[in-house]
Amino acid sequence: MSKLKNIAVFTSGGDAPGMNAAVRAVVRTGLFQNIAITGVIGGFEGFINNYFESMQLGSVANIIQRGGTILKTGRCPEFKKAEVRAKVAENIRNQGIDGLICIGGDGSFTGSSLLFEEQGIPIIGIPGTIDNDIHGTDYTIGFDTAVNTAVEAVDRIRDTAASHDRLFIVEVMGRNSGFLALEVGLAAGAEEVFIPEFPVTVDQALEKINRGIKRGKHSSIIITAEGQKPGRAYDLAENIRKKSGFEAKVCILGHIQRGGKPTAQDRNIASQMGAAAVNALVEGKKDLFIGVENNKLTFKPMTESLQQQRKPDKNLLKLIQILSC
Ligand code: F6P
Repeated sequence: MSKLKNIAVFTSGGDAPGMNAAVRAVVRTGLFQNIAITGVIGGFEGFINNYFESMQLGSVANIIQRGGTILKTGRCPEFKKAEVRAKVAENIRNQGIDGLICIGGDGSFTGSSLLFEEQGIPIIGIPGTIDNDIHGTDYTIGFDTAVNTAVEAVDRIRDTAASHDRLFIVEVMGRNSGFLALEVGLAAGAEEVFIPEFPVTVDQALEKINRGIKRGKHSSIIITAEGQKPGRAYDLAENIRKKSGFEAKVCILGHIQRGGKPTAQDRNIASQMGAAAVNALVEGKKDLFIGVENNKLTFKPMTESLQQQRKPDKNLLKLIQILSC
């Protein structure tokens, strides 16, 4: 019998398809082991404002296929203050909660880790972000769905680009990371990919496009990660126009990539991670996050995920460039 009586689960940061599947797995695995599950509404803000809801088997019925998160989510700058975290710990204890499961990205892991360090509340992280940029795991929930959504959009753009002999720049999400852009670029056969980690110059991209034109190519697709500033694709188009006279069309996919039905891969990994998170707390584990490496679940200290920025494989960029020649 587990000593744990009540686990709270919350989603935090940008939502990601598959978060609901993870919440469902947490609730049903916990209740199966006679542990009460509390849903915290709205991420860290829910802890501050005491938005707690008791979760039952039926609370998570019919959500495995739904995008977004039934628990709501948000970014919470207030949680950066130690005094706010102390108040949150008091609210958690008042509810009789003795373990937490956080589903979110690196910002959410930072807050969770501090809560454990300062207040000793056991917490397990489940990586959920379309960016796939958490160090220490090959995979984050939502990435596969976002890639597929973006690839479908780029395929449609390619139809019109080919009909009109046009150059398109498609901007995908990814604030500091190019995982999404690279994966989309490879799957959609893009001519060039601009990501923050391995910068390509406009001259290099133009050289590539001109080579294509010489061999009879009439349309091209460039993928760019949004980087620090969404709308970066417009700057790129302007730069290209100034240097070459080419008029590039811009398409910013934006939050479309965050919504929609999770793929089977996202649902299945989320389900496994949700169950594993409950079991980890039951076994007395604290301050860990669950990852996937070589198709197996891993358990690592949460702080490990925060020490370094995860970098994509440069060979993928090279491959994209070779294959689209
Ligand atoms: O962290 C996921 C993410 O979708 C990033 O790719 C993107 O830069 C950011 O969130 C956008 O955040 P918001 O929805 O808060 O504008």
